[in-house]
Amino acid sequence: MTSAVEKFIRVFGGTEHSVLGFHAPGRVNLIGEYTDFNGGPVFPCAINRGNTLYVRRTDDQAIEFYSENFPERASLRGSGLSTRQGDDSWVNYPLGVIKEFIDLDHRIEGLQLYYSGNVPNGAGLSSSASIEVLTAFALNQLFNGAMSNTELAVLSRRAENNFVGVQCGIMDQFAVAMAKENHALALHCDTLDYQHVPLQLGDYRIIISNTNQRRELSESAYNDRVRDCNAAHAALQPATGATQLANVTPQQLADNLNLLTDPVIRNRASHVVAETDRVNRAVSALNSNDLTTFGQLMQQSHNSLRDLFEVSSAPLDSLVKHAGTLPGVIGSRMTGAGFGGCTVSLVEKDAIENFVQTVGTLYSKETGLQADFYETTATAGVRQIAL
Ligand code: GLA
Repeated sequence: MTSAVEKFIRVFGGTEHSVLGFHAPGRVNLIGEYTDFNGGPVFPCAINRGNTLYVRRTDDQAIEFYSENFPERASLRGSGLSTRQGDDSWVNYPLGVIKEFIDLDHRIEGLQLYYSGNVPNGAGLSSSASIEVLTAFALNQLFNGAMSNTELAVLSRRAENNFVGVQCGIMDQFAVAMAKENHALALHCDTLDYQHVPLQLGDYRIIISNTNQRRELSESAYNDRVRDCNAAHAALQPATGATQLANVTPQQLADNLNLLTDPVIRNRASHVVAETDRVNRAVSALNSNDLTTFGQLMQQSHNSLRDLFEVSSAPLDSLVKHAGTLPGVIGSRMTGAGFGGCTVSLVEKDAIENFVQTVGTLYSKETGLQADFYETTATAGVRQIAL
């Protein structure tokens, strides 16, 4: 018996019989921030940190929730399965997914769920999407849901929108569900067309730097950005015919800037339109092995998120600034929703040690915070694991 199953039994009792295991990664977004809910492209990959779920069906009607990472446990049944737990409770993530299954007329009950994981929470690496997709994938297997991974991603996003209350786009759930080892995912968020692009980085490696900054008000600030983008789209739609903000071309935006009288809304739109263009160029650059261009586009993306979309923070800017001064660093930017969280950098393998030391020291001096650094490869999406 594996030690994970032993831990499951310590919590829920019984034997190892009929315990199943599943794994879902976190993700890092290489480029394409705040384009997803505007119908634009994104370019994430899955990372070597993730969540694992051990699950057993029981004859009881209750669903029991346990996590190694959070103190709250829950045992819910009946209408309790459609009721939000406390605002900060981790249980809302799996519960939102369960509710989506119930709303699709699946009879979901009698489960013991044991979660463990090493994606830092609230750090922009999709710890919540990972739990949602992991739960959806397991339920789909256990209750013969017959849904594809794409459908599970869409369902998981709905759970986050409706139950958790963050108006996020599809990027995180899709990346967690559909990622492929050694590839990044070029996803068009309007059509959900995607392509797995080989992540040929030569001597470069993906380094994630965690600000360890506490994120405050990020959910409401995120939803504010969604509102700003909707306002920009409403103003531009009649003149451009664009069905979503990311479909506005740079030329159309330039021709119609006068329609965006509020400078904040104008800045938001400028970010989304330019970021859309940057993602398309970054994917082409990677396909033609032009890492220098890829790195420059990452840098431009960061500057735009800082100045126009205003979702960066002093700690994120500090990490990106210090990374930019070092040899062997080809690009660095904030990743995910921002307001704290992580940066992603492409660093030459022989320069990583110096990167971690120098950026770590300068960052601490400037912010008084301690950064963490993780090297990652591009990993596979959600899957069942052997126990
Ligand atoms: C969060 C959301 C995503 C996306 C990013 C910003 O990760 O969950 O849908 O909007 O922020 O690019």
